[in-house]
Amino acid sequence: MVTAGAGRPATPDGPAGPAPSAARSDRWPADPAAALAGGVDGPDLVRRLVGVALDAAAAGARYRGGPVPAGGPDAVARAVREACPDVLPQDGAGAEAALTAVVRALAAGAADPADPLCVAHLHGPPLAVAAAADLTASTINPSMDSWDQAPAAGELERLVTAAVAGLAYPGRPSADAVVTTGATESNVVALLLARERAAGPVQLVCSDEAHHSIPRAAWLLGLPTAVIVPTRDGRLHPDDLAAALDRTPGPHVVTATAGTTSRGIVDPLPLIADVAAACGAHLHVDAAYGGGLLFSDTRRGLLAGLDRADTVALDLHKLGWQPLAAGLLAVADGALLAPLSVRADYLNADDDTEAGLPDLLGRSLRTSRRPDVVKIATTFLALGRSGLGRLTDRCCAAAEDVAGQLDGRPGLRLLSRPELSTVLFRPVAADQLDDRTGDELVAGIRRSLLASGRAVLGRATVAGPAGRGRLWLKLTLLNPHVTAADLTRLLDLVEQAADQLAGAPGRATDGASTPG
Ligand SMILES: Cc1ncc(COP(=O)(O)O)c(C=O)c1O
Repeated sequence: MVTAGAGRPATPDGPAGPAPSAARSDRWPADPAAALAGGVDGPDLVRRLVGVALDAAAAGARYRGGPVPAGGPDAVARAVREACPDVLPQDGAGAEAALTAVVRALAAGAADPADPLCVAHLHGPPLAVAAAADLTASTINPSMDSWDQAPAAGELERLVTAAVAGLAYPGRPSADAVVTTGATESNVVALLLARERAAGPVQLVCSDEAHHSIPRAAWLLGLPTAVIVPTRDGRLHPDDLAAALDRTPGPHVVTATAGTTSRGIVDPLPLIADVAAACGAHLHVDAAYGGGLLFSDTRRGLLAGLDRADTVALDLHKLGWQPLAAGLLAVADGALLAPLSVRADYLNADDDTEAGLPDLLGRSLRTSRRPDVVKIATTFLALGRSGLGRLTDRCCAAAEDVAGQLDGRPGLRLLSRPELSTVLFRPVAADQLDDRTGDELVAGIRRSLLASGRAVLGRATVAGPAGRGRLWLKLTLLNPHVTAADLTRLLDLVEQAADQLAGAPGRATDGASTPG
């Protein structure tokens, strides 16, 4: 329990005691737009303003009436400009008017991942508990670059990173983790650590299904151009990896993916770990998507071998239901993080560190850092591993359900059984057209549903047996509350759009055309 400092009067009820209210009206400026969020008085004002903002959010969502606004970019741009005709006026409109205008426009024009038909991307619907924690963290605003800006938040981060390290590397006391803005940053840091470990240029070898941020990280870090290994059916084959490593001078950093962006495929991690170990490569696993399986007792086995990686990227804003951003990089051995150490006298002077102030600066490439750990800690505590595991299982079960529904629809073709929560399919009518026209039909279905505001589907190009890429519709199911009936409705919409566009030559690529 936190104790009041020496010479400071303790509140009668300790740190959670009632706030003294006498001075409140004196402290609130006449204009709430200029008031502060923190301290003893701020929360009451924030509560009032949040009520206004959330009413506007609900009104905007009701007005939108679906996963995304109808009408496409022009209609949305018009509505936003009408709500904010002069975004930086000479004189302000006041807190309540501003919140109402901006938040209503934001919600009315949102692609809302909480809508069951918003299934395009690894863009998850945040949990209410996480959003509440995140908002509150914003009112207090700890900056995670020094202990004197984030005393409790720094300690929470130690607890959360230790828990995540234990999840990725069970039974490995040397494991550690750092918080990042997401897997893009995690992948950069992983390659940086591999480079520093090799004490020189390190050769990246990854698959053609690796996320684009991986070869980009190599470019950013001045590493040699990545060697890209073609996948077989979307999966990195260990023999192909071994052959690529044989013909490429090392030292190497190998990356594998646990949950590819386009298909949700988990590379064969134990075999890849064998190949990487045989040539002394640093193994990094991008588990931005699949990492969520670690919570699930029934599906964790899909990640067997993950703990043989030197570094693992995890994203809790995917299967973790956090508001952006909530990335982590786990490392098998905390000593690997040493290259992140840096001294800045104003943040982590040697004498302060020697006197016992924790050094937070060496836990990131960034300096000022949002306390993303607060929402993560709250979510972990609220749901526990089993609660998060159940949410993961529901998303995966929804993917299995929709795959089953596709089996029963002769007009639609499933690419392959889902491994995670991604399902790829295309209308059979597209297969009956030449490649280009078929792909245009698929692209047109996606755009027409988007333009009409009825559904947000993703797309993925998948190489066929002849190596030619064909376009598929993609469902990325991250909403644990999606129902079988929602998915039926979604497939009905796709079939209606396919029928309409297939029967209307020249309309397939028209983004503004709306089915039904
Ligand atoms: C496999 C994989 N890695 C990395 C990323 C990038 O993650 P972020 O957007 O959190 O930086 C993604 C994004 O979807 C991904 O799917």
